Amino acid sequence: MNLSATTNTFKKISTDILAVFVFHDKKLFSHTLASIKENIEITGFGPASQKDFSAKEGEHHLLYSDNKNIPRVVLIGLGDVKSFSVEKLRRASATASKKANGLKAKSLSIDCTSVLDSFKLQPEAIATAIAEGSLLSLYAYDKYLTHKKTRTLKNISLVALHSRDVSEVNKGLQYGKLLANATNHARDLENAPGSEIYPETLAKNAQRTGRDHGFSVTIFNKSKIRSLNMGGVLAVSKGSVHDPRFIVMEHGRSHKKNGTIVLVGKGVTFDTGGISIKPSANMAEMKMDMSGAAAVIGTMQAAAQLKLKKHLIGLVPAVENMPSGSAVKPGDIIRHYNGKTSEVDNTDAEGRLILADALSYADKFKPSVVIDLATLTGAVVVALGHYATGMMGNDQDVMNALRNAGENTYERVWQLPMFDEYEKQIKSDVADVKNVGGRWAGAITAAWFLKKFIGEYRWVHLDIAGTAILESDQDYSPRGGSGVGVRLLTEFLQQWK
Ligand code: BES
Ligand code: ZN
Ligand code: ZN
Repeated sequence: MNLSATTNTFKKISTDILAVFVFHDKKLFSHTLASIKENIEITGFGPASQKDFSAKEGEHHLLYSDNKNIPRVVLIGLGDVKSFSVEKLRRASATASKKANGLKAKSLSIDCTSVLDSFKLQPEAIATAIAEGSLLSLYAYDKYLTHKKTRTLKNISLVALHSRDVSEVNKGLQYGKLLANATNHARDLENAPGSEIYPETLAKNAQRTGRDHGFSVTIFNKSKIRSLNMGGVLAVSKGSVHDPRFIVMEHGRSHKKNGTIVLVGKGVTFDTGGISIKPSANMAEMKMDMSGAAAVIGTMQAAAQLKLKKHLIGLVPAVENMPSGSAVKPGDIIRHYNGKTSEVDNTDAEGRLILADALSYADKFKPSVVIDLATLTGAVVVALGHYATGMMGNDQDVMNALRNAGENTYERVWQLPMFDEYEKQIKSDVADVKNVGGRWAGAITAAWFLKKFIGEYRWVHLDIAGTAILESDQDYSPRGGSGVGVRLLTEFLQQWK
């Protein structure tokens, strides 16, 4: 997609469709309308149209004109000016882009001057939101479809800008495009079937991403994993014909003096539950049980492209969780990388077993902060649904920063408590810890399990089970893998001192 910015006004542009962002408020609405009518010979928009469309949030209205340079105009409602937000702009841009593409337009011009004129928001931030909303909403996973979903739209241009805003707007557009591309890469990994993405191919993807965008990647194979005594990774992968991999990614080594941030992503390329097998309904979703890994790979891509001045390590334990004669069994006891033991009470609580190794391995880098992302529990979906990621950890400053990043990107996180009392639920009689904590507070007891394996660092755990896997379309995220985490973490990394 080609994104551009121009000072050209309606008289000078030529486009398949022009989208005009309109506020619900009477004065602003009629002002915008007057300027359109003055410049473009619109067929209609009389009293009936005005009754049908009043620029409420989520509304749009298509008009035709006799002007061959601007044959179509779509009015996009932004709702009340008082409750305007950057997120509403992402959604409005998604509406405009999907409408344009649906009409088989090749070019879309967007008039967002109502937004630029009404708010003190940086033009750059406005442009980023428009690029994100547009490019994320046009995503489709059609790799295996013989008849691809049509994607005609090739050019999006923000028009009628003040000349002083053009260069900032261009910067913002490119930044939004970079974030959307990294997020869409994560979505591709999530949506790919388990037959295509298994530990070896997930590792290959990380390697190619590193080559393409300039971060380094080291892959540990099964014998290296064995020599490191990563007992959780070995145990969970035992039942599968696919050997495990442990992926280590690195960016910005020269900035080490400012501290190291480690990102850890759960990479279960398919989760059948193992011997504690899952019911068959919706099991196909478990191809996305590597969404944490996808988020980390996508974030490494964004960080490298942005040349972030931060030392970043990405760790992904990658396994397939299968039942078979060689699979790990309930009652088995595992010894993890740091020497601690865990009792496997349920083989479907496999994510924490592989993360235990990765989190204790992270200590080796003497990190200032470690953030893990995992589709860890169904319990977090029960608690928060699909609109917030569950957040737990041992450092309030990092959690506050992530919460802020979540508000800015609208990849929102919500903190759950880690009260000491919950720890009792994962006590084992035969090992240092048990991998399940009973029926209640499943997301929290899972985090408590992880906490047993962290090192001397500030740590935050993000349970993305509800936000990574979407059952139905959201404004700019089609159902399936959402790519959640990439924009959140990139924003966090930019802001974190
Ligand atoms: N991958 C699942 C969690 C999950 C569930 C992710 C639904 C996305 C949507 C995880 O490995 C799992 O199976 N967890 C169990 C833990 C239980 C056995 C303690 C769960 O949540 O049921
Ligand atoms: Zn599981
Ligand atoms: Zn899982």
